Order: sequence, then C-alpha cells, then structure tokens
Amino acid sequence: MKGFHSNISGFYKLSMEERQKLLSSLTNLDQNDMKILKELGYFSATQIDTLIENVVGSYQLPFGLALNFKINNKDYIIPMVIEEPSVVAAASNAARMARKHGGFHSEEVKSIMISQIQITQLKDIEESKKVLQKNKEKLLKIANEQDPMLNELGGGARDIEIREINTNKGKMIILHLLVDVLDAMGANVVNTMAEAISPIIEDISRGRVYLRIVSNLATHRLAKSSATFDKEMLGGDEVVEGILNAYEFAAADPYRATTHNKGIMNGIVALTLATGNDTRAIEAGSHAYASLSGQYSPLTKFKVDSDGNLVGEIELPLALGIIGGMTKIHPMARIALKILNVKSAGELSQVGAALGLAQNVAALRALASEGIQKGHMALHSRNIAKVAGVPDALLEKVAQVMIKEKKIRVDYAKQILQRINDGENL
Ligand code: MEV
Repeated sequence: MKGFHSNISGFYKLSMEERQKLLSSLTNLDQNDMKILKELGYFSATQIDTLIENVVGSYQLPFGLALNFKINNKDYIIPMVIEEPSVVAAASNAARMARKHGGFHSEEVKSIMISQIQITQLKDIEESKKVLQKNKEKLLKIANEQDPMLNELGGGARDIEIREINTNKGKMIILHLLVDVLDAMGANVVNTMAEAISPIIEDISRGRVYLRIVSNLATHRLAKSSATFDKEMLGGDEVVEGILNAYEFAAADPYRATTHNKGIMNGIVALTLATGNDTRAIEAGSHAYASLSGQYSPLTKFKVDSDGNLVGEIELPLALGIIGGMTKIHPMARIALKILNVKSAGELSQVGAALGLAQNVAALRALASEGIQKGHMALHSRNIAKVAGVPDALLEKVAQVMIKEKKIRVDYAKQILQRINDGENL
C-alpha cells in the first residue's frame, strides 16, 4: 500500500464521510468495501459518530434467540449476539432438557457494586483504618449526595469495607464503597461517588489517594442458578457419566477449566452484547471469580440425583444493567430487552446465569458423546461454501456433500460446485 501511514492528527475532527474518504485514500479498500463501510444499518450517522471516537462505520453480528427457557417458573426467549455457529441451538436444546424437570431456579441478585479507593503513604495504618471506620456514615452521606435520584428510587451507597494490602510500594488501605445501583450496571455512579469522597478520605486517613474506580470483581452481585437436566434427553447414563468426568477434569486442570468457562461465556457474553452491556466487565469479573480459590476453576458444578439425572449449578458475578450505557441507546439492545421482558437488572442476571449453565451442559453433552465438531460442521460447512462462492440455492447441497465426505474446505466446495455445474448428480 503506497503512502500508507497511521500518523493522522485531527482524525476525530473530520466528519464521518471525510474519515471514510481519507481511509480509502490510505488503504486498498475497494469500491465494494467502501459501500459496505457506508451502510450504517439502523444507526443514523450522528448517532453512531457520538458513541465512540474516530468512527468510520458500524459492525453487524447475528442476533439469534435461545428458546425453551423456564426460569423461576417464567418463560423467557433469550436474545443472543454471537458469531459462532451452534451456540444458540445448543443453549435451546439444554433448556429443553431442564424444562422437563421444572426449568432453572435462579436466586435473587442484589445490584451491589464495589468502588475501590486506594489510600497510600499512610503513617499509622491501624489508626487510619479506625478513623475511616468511625467516619463511615459521613462518607456514605457524601457519596449519596452525588445521586439523589438513585436514593429516591431506593438505591445508594450502603456500606464500606476496609482492606489492607501489602505491595512493593508498602502497605495500602483499599476502601471499598458498596453501592446499590439498582437497575444500572453501575460503573458510572460508583466512580462518581468514589471521586467525591476521596478528598475527605485523604483528610481523615492522612494518606494520599490515587485510584478511585469500580471493581469488576462484583462479589456482592453474584448470580446463582441450578437445574436438573433429563438423563434420557442427555443421551443416557453413559453421557451423564461423561459429563461428570468432564467436570472433574475442569475442576483439576486450569487448561481445561479455561475452555469449560469459555463455553459458559459463549452464552453469557452473547446475552451481554445483545442487551448493550459491557462484555469486558463480565468476562474480567467471571474469570477473576473463577480464580479466587487460588486455582482457576470451573464456574459450574455437577452431580446426579437419585434417578441419575444431571444436576448442575452455576455461580458467578454478573453486573448486567437494564438502564444506562448502551442499553437504551442501541436500537437492538432495546429490542432485546423488550423480548426478554425482565423487570429489573437482577432478573436479567438471573437469566444470564441460567443461560450460562445451559450453554455449559450443552457443550459437555456434545463433548461427552458425539464430539463438538458434528454440530459445528453443519453451519460451518455452509459458511465455507459461501466463502467458496457457491450460490445461495446450492449452499445446502454443497455443505451436505462436504459433511458426508468429511472434507470441509473452500477448495473442495469449489470442486463440488464445479461437479454440479458439470452435470454430476451429487
Ligand atoms: C466452543 O466455543 C466451546 C467449547 O469448547 C466449550 C467446552 O469445551 O466446554 C465447546
């Protein structure tokens, strides 16, 4: 690419159209690429340009629906945004197996977020801890003055936790401000409160405050769900035994636990994205929670009941909101929340936990029986055929031949297409 460089100043000051033009002059994007780039879908140019910086386009992903979910005796259709084939079907399938035994039971989730305030350079750490504790009510009052509306609605700063940590820069006090953020994800409100009380904290503790920021390890916002999955629908005793073995494998081996939890996140992150929530916060919190014992562990647990059915449970922090952030701005997130019909952020987290559990059971069932590739390959082979330039009318045919002959490759899809065009009856 002749003349390509990334040293561009004032890019943000250009209109989106000007940015697109400049981009096209710098790269080898062709006319077709530029046409796609200019398609903003349901966003207006002004809307999308104010969401992040240096915007040049929008990016679409499939929006699918997981079905069959019954959680706390209420039916849910769960929107999922994900690029991976088989995930939505797998979750729906596992939900059907749980439905036979009453569906999922998810516990109430309190929307308590933690904001951390880092206090350093303390002369007398014990004395500082004491005086901070003594001034708790004063700190909570000032924190609550930052968001009168939250208070009116029944939320607000509730408590403080005082922790001492040892660091390479000496001992520090980490003050946790615990805030009931009600239906929000809550990062903004707790950060504002933490910043507001920090000067007073410096005053009373005689220390120096540096960081004042939400913790994504939301241990006061844990979501727990459990369900019984039908033995016969899973594939019988042998498959259940396989799932229990898979679980013990994950419990003993962080390499496996990572993939085990990745499967859980397939569901939870897809819901997080669909509802306009912060996927990175959910991922970071979940994986940190999985490591709290000192060993990275699975977020689910399994056993069998007296009839040999599989009983699963999941526990993880889930800071999902139904107001604030992108939840009400993103047109598809708004639709997702309407489809979900949840009345609170806590209810959304209850759904998230159930979905994560279902997703995990579906993956373990496939792994413990026919393997994961069979289900994957049906959709994957269609995608491969598409990449190979197979016309829509022949996609299914070409995909089926590739699956049958166990050769799912672009070059092979082209060969099959050629054979069909040559009149071969496949
Ligand atoms: C693939 O996206 C997810 C799985 O690897 C999860 C697992 O191994 O449990 C199938």
